[in-house]
Amino acid sequence: MVVPSPTPLDTEKVRAVDLPIIDLSAQRSEVSKLIVKACDNFGFFKVINHGVPNHIIAKLEHEGLSFFAKPVPEKLRAGPANPFGYGCKTIGLNGDMGEIEYLVLNTNPLSIAERSKTISDDPSKFSSIVSDYIEAVRGLGCELLDLMAEGLLVTDTSVFSRLIRDVDCDSVLRLNHYPPVQVDCNDRDTSHPYDNRNKVGFGEHSDPQILTLLRSNDVGGLQISIEDGVWIPVTPDPNTFCVNVGDVLQVMTNGRFVSVRHRVLTNSCESRMSMAYFGAPSLQTRITAPPELVTPNRLSLYRPFTWAEYKKASYSLRLGDRRLELFRKCIED
Ligand code: OGA
Ligand code: NI
Repeated sequence: MVVPSPTPLDTEKVRAVDLPIIDLSAQRSEVSKLIVKACDNFGFFKVINHGVPNHIIAKLEHEGLSFFAKPVPEKLRAGPANPFGYGCKTIGLNGDMGEIEYLVLNTNPLSIAERSKTISDDPSKFSSIVSDYIEAVRGLGCELLDLMAEGLLVTDTSVFSRLIRDVDCDSVLRLNHYPPVQVDCNDRDTSHPYDNRNKVGFGEHSDPQILTLLRSNDVGGLQISIEDGVWIPVTPDPNTFCVNVGDVLQVMTNGRFVSVRHRVLTNSCESRMSMAYFGAPSLQTRITAPPELVTPNRLSLYRPFTWAEYKKASYSLRLGDRRLELFRKCIED
């Protein structure tokens, strides 16, 4: 197989675009329309007035920063990330690398309690902070998925949210830390829209799950792409959550919403830390679109598959591979 070489960073286009910011305190029917529009156009939006309490976010941020500040041998006790635990530079099992260190946890309470023992000196405190955060962001995720179903005029409005409410759901929490790049901060190329000696923190990919809710500190670096080779920087804002449509939601909307491709560049003298909740169904869930989204004008695009099958396929591929292609039906014209 011929693998196309990635475009060098300094020949790519960066475009400033105002990405949708959705105020969840506005009128419900209006909010659901705006969310659908954002997912149609970008597979991405930001939410404000999201209802996740600040103290819950601040506590997890503090735990994350304290963990990443530990000496390397201590952090390694929580690794390797196969797939849960601490990882550094390598992403996945197929040779992807980035200027990143991270901590991945399954959202199952027993799994959190067990993992916490190697992550924190006070495991019960760490577990309870992580669990409170997960509960709050899961609530936000369910609300957003219900609003999407309403906006798409799907009769069963909990068809998406039910999957991440399931006790057996396979959702994941991931803390990413991008340490500063070692370039002289006084010597940056300010004539360029972004410093062309940036390194890739987290390479181009789409998230495989249903949806991602990502909160970062005020250090930028995240970019999304809706057109090959053109990148839109996402302005960092610790008071918002960024929402990504994931591959499963692309399938469950029968290709109407497209999972957004994104990446992170280490573009700062400061460290970026992000906390991402990936809402996923249980392993045995069959991923199919509700009947309203499959019509004579919009035939079913994907063959049915389980989340376990999809995960297995993702593990065998590279980060940037377009995994959904493997599940697309061959439609003869
Ligand atoms: C991810 C991701 C972006 C970030 O973890 O899948 O895209 O800002 N993270 O860390
Ligand atoms: Ni991602």
